[in-house]
Formats: sequence, structure tokens, C-alpha cells
Amino acid sequence: MHIPSSIILEVSALCNVSCLGCALHGPDGFVVRPFGNMKRETWEPVIREIGSWDKKVCVSAHGGGEPLMNPDLRDILSLAKSFPNIEVGFLTNGMLMDESWAEFVISAGLDWIAFSIDGVTPETHDKIRWKSDLVKVEKNLEMLLTLKKKKQSMVPKVKLNMVAYDAIMDQKDAFVEKWINKVDGVMVSHYRNPPESKRWPNVPAERKPCSLLWSQAVVAWDGRLGLCCEDFNIDHSPGRVGKDAGLLELWNGPELSNLRTLHKNGQYENHPMCIECDTWAEDYARETLKNKKGYNVTDSPSQTAYSK
Ligand SMILES: C[S@@+](CC[C@H](N)C(=O)[O-])C[C@H]1O[C@@H](n2cnc3c(N)ncnc32)[C@H](O)[C@@H]1O
Ligand code: SF4
Repeated sequence: MHIPSSIILEVSALCNVSCLGCALHGPDGFVVRPFGNMKRETWEPVIREIGSWDKKVCVSAHGGGEPLMNPDLRDILSLAKSFPNIEVGFLTNGMLMDESWAEFVISAGLDWIAFSIDGVTPETHDKIRWKSDLVKVEKNLEMLLTLKKKKQSMVPKVKLNMVAYDAIMDQKDAFVEKWINKVDGVMVSHYRNPPESKRWPNVPAERKPCSLLWSQAVVAWDGRLGLCCEDFNIDHSPGRVGKDAGLLELWNGPELSNLRTLHKNGQYENHPMCIECDTWAEDYARETLKNKKGYNVTDSPSQTAYSK
């Protein structure tokens, strides 16, 4: 049996913000499945199953929505952190990351947290991230960084993610400069234009198998296993975790095993999702260089990551 090294656990598909490019909550959102919060009957057995594996696993407790919308999030993170083989973190829009949350993520030993912030200017940020407020998000971020320093805590590692919308590309350098000395990493992600968002720039000419099929499992808020992280609408689910089978059993079931065989045989065109997807290239087109300022810059088709 294959055991994944990474799990996307969509604890919530709900959101308090509406971002321009968001596949679920943006004005051009194309995801039509219902949205809700993951229930205890789904997240508890899934986390316990992952915790029983004899392998280190990274659980990303986000998906298509905002994790802090789930009132169980503290319990979810605490349970995950009770297993020594689980590393856990999540992406957040930062609007609800108040002082009590900052206290919690530090004391719970959350491994990482990434704030999504699009640029440095409130006028453009609050238009792109509609219903968000850059001043408030930055205040929440600074508060977490201050508290972490005060408690001399190494975790959570704090990262930032800016989406490279054309309208704010002129803010990219200012964004990196503003935060690089304060956080553990700054990412600038390629803008994915919904709904043709599975195509990436700078993809190698020769196609290779997608390593995600062997490394990552995606569990939607309603317990359905997704085909992979590109199955935004969960159109290709092999079944519901817990109801139909355990996570590992489903992930090693016939649907995903057949797809792995197609990839090994180079028959990518035989699956309707893989035929039009470039995400496989992430693993094969990645390089890290030092830039003029001495920052480590890692370029891949999906993003540029900066660290010091
Ligand atoms: C779907 S959100 C879920 C987590 C959380 N709600 C947040 O905003 O961080 C995950 C990430 O995708 C980014 N994102 C949204 N629309 C995008 C697009 N069209 N292209 C690339 N990234 C996008 C968001 O800014 C965020 O960093
Ligand atoms: S905050 Fe995240 S989930 Fe919400 S609309 Fe923006 S990108 Fe989508």
C-alpha cells in the first residue's frame, strides 16, 4: 500500500471573504459543489487514521475555504498535534486571526501558518480580497509575530502568500522587501485564471508522471476523497472516507491505482483531468538561486518563493 506524505484536509469550504481569483468564492468561481464545514464524524477518524501510520505526514488544514470558519478548528489542530508523526499547518486570509488565535497556534505547537496577503496597498488589496481589510490582516500578522518572539517560540513558522495578479505585480518587490526580514518565507504565486486555471507557465516539453498521485491525498469537507488537489469540484471522487472505506483503503483503491498506471505508461490523455493539467511539472521544473540581495529564490511553475 502507498502511504501519502501530504494530506489536504479541507476543514471548511466556507469563507468570510470573496477574492477575485478564488475558484470557490470569487466572482468567476466555477466550483458548484455544496460548501460547508467538516464535521467531527469526518475529521476525527481521518486524523486518528493518519496518526496510526508509521510515516511522517504533513497535514494542510485548508482547502477551498477559510479554515477559521470551522468552529472545531482548535479541536482539529489539537488532535493532529497529539500524534508525533503529524506536522500541521494552514493557509488563512488572516481576518479572524486575533490575539486568542495567536496564543492558541503558538501554545498548540502548530508547525506553520501562511497568511494570504495580496500586495502592500489597502486600496488594491481590499478590492482584490473583497470583504478583507489589509490594515486588520497586517495588524493580526504583526501581533502573532510579536507574541511568538515574546514567547521565544520557534513555531509556527510564518509564511506569506501573494497572488501575482497583473494589477499588483508592481507591488511584488515592495511586498517581498516589507516582510522578508520578519517572516520565515514569502511566496508569490502564479495567478490562475479561472476556470482554465490548471495550465502553468514554463512547463518542460516532455511530460512525466505526476508525483502527487503517489504523495498527496485530498479530503473534501464532506468526507469525499478528491482525485488530487486540482479536482476543485471533486468531480472524480473514489468515495467517502469513513462511509465507503478508510482513507488509505480508498487512496489505494482501483480508481487511483488505475490512474497511477496510466501515468506510469504515459497515457495522460486517457484521463479528462490529466489531459489539461500542468501541475505535474512542479516537481520537474524547480530551481533555487541566490538573487542580488542574497535571498534564496526558488522558482517553480506555480510560484516564486523567497527566504533568507
Ligand atoms: C483558496 S485559498 C484557501 C485558504 C484561505 N482562505 C486563504 O485565502 O488563504 C488558498 C490560496 O489560494 C490563493 N488564490 C486564490 N485565488 C487564486 C488564483 N486565481 N490563483 C492563484 N492563487 C489563488 C489564495 O490567495 C490563497 O493564498
Ligand atoms: S479568502 Fe481564501 S477561500 Fe476566501 S475567497 Fe479568498 S482565496 Fe477564496
